[in-house]
Amino acid sequence: MKKKAMIVAGVMSGTSADGIDVALVRLQPRSQTRFELLGHAEYPYPNKVRTAVLGAMNAPRASVADLSRLNFLLGELYSEAVVATERQFRVKVDLIGCHGQTLYHQGEPERFLGRKLAATWQTGEAAIIAARVGVPVVSDFRPADMAAGGKGAPLVPFLDYALFRHARVGRIAQNIGGIANLAAIPAGAAASDVIAFDTGPGNMVIDAVTEKLFSRPFDRGGKIAASGKVLDRLVHGILQRAFFRKPPPKTAGREEFGRDFVSNFLQSCKTSRKQDVLATATALTARSIADGVQRFVLKNANFQRKPTFHEMIISGGGTRNSTLVAMLANEIALLGLRLRFSDEFGLPSAAKEAVAFAVLAHETWLRRPSSVPSATGAKRAAVLGKVSYP
Ligand SMILES: Nc1ncnc2c1ncn2[C@@H]1O[C@H](COP(=O)(O)OP(=O)(O)O)[C@@H](O)[C@H]1O
Ligand SMILES: [Mg+2]
Repeated sequence: MKKKAMIVAGVMSGTSADGIDVALVRLQPRSQTRFELLGHAEYPYPNKVRTAVLGAMNAPRASVADLSRLNFLLGELYSEAVVATERQFRVKVDLIGCHGQTLYHQGEPERFLGRKLAATWQTGEAAIIAARVGVPVVSDFRPADMAAGGKGAPLVPFLDYALFRHARVGRIAQNIGGIANLAAIPAGAAASDVIAFDTGPGNMVIDAVTEKLFSRPFDRGGKIAASGKVLDRLVHGILQRAFFRKPPPKTAGREEFGRDFVSNFLQSCKTSRKQDVLATATALTARSIADGVQRFVLKNANFQRKPTFHEMIISGGGTRNSTLVAMLANEIALLGLRLRFSDEFGLPSAAKEAVAFAVLAHETWLRRPSSVPSATGAKRAAVLGKVSYP
């Protein structure tokens, strides 16, 4: 077993299917919290690739040949992204942790061919990455947690707990990617006290509405939403739905907030002004986060004594949407929480999830379990992922 510090590339591409984030991190074998971020970079998917990825995610039926090719194509794109980042920061990595692109995630067991099963699928061929970059690659992090009875998500709470736990300050780490998810870490918490779950849509509905009504991939800076008026009744109505009422652990994806959800949403605001519709989609993200905090964190019965929370630390692409951030700050102020950015903790918002997969890969390399059972609902912590050698 290696005992030296390692430089690990974390490679993340989330449900937004916007592209690839790479973070280069120096990690110490004896500490999960002492790490040094050496650099990070973002590589948008070429338009055709984004369309193919979104198509595959949303497809009720798909071509097996195309999915297989997409797997190998993404392997090439991930390798190129890692090599480009190595060049940019003049760093050679020892190991790669690649999350891959989720094409399907069903954390909850459902009946299939006479059996009840949960299933997940991340694509992006790790053998290609290992061969091209010349170092081992840890990939496919989620199945081991599901095999241990968990929902396979969220996995980032391992990093959240390592970084944000504090003896006297209760913190909620909130990532706003395509889906929004949180990890609540009470003051003085043990890892088993961490509550984590997907709160609902992050940018996914905002992006889809922007695309449909304004023919742009996302609402840059939240400018369009800022000019609209929120349809409060609609937001209120959506928050009564089963997903939002369901206690954690719970996960969401395109299956919950993808194409079908968005077409229903657009249907219900048909007669409204376009900018109001987008403002409403934006408010849905902000309010569903606050609602999740109120229902399942502040009132959680599992805590022995009532914990107090002081801060929400946000990360992910959604932090660049100023309208969303302002709405969220207002909502959580009502719950007595102050909004902070992960950047204040040395973790650039856009790099956080990529850093997390570098840390998880490193744990796996050292054969250490890194899932957080209280977050995923698993029976035990698992060593996550599979290793491909160059
Ligand atoms: N300048 C910006 N203004 C508003 N939204 C942005 C901006 N940059 C990124 N985003 C949003 O962030 C999303 C990507 O966030 P990311 O954290 O990468 O999500 P994921 O993990 O799902 O890939 C984009 O799809 C977009 O909605
Ligand atoms: Mg992304």
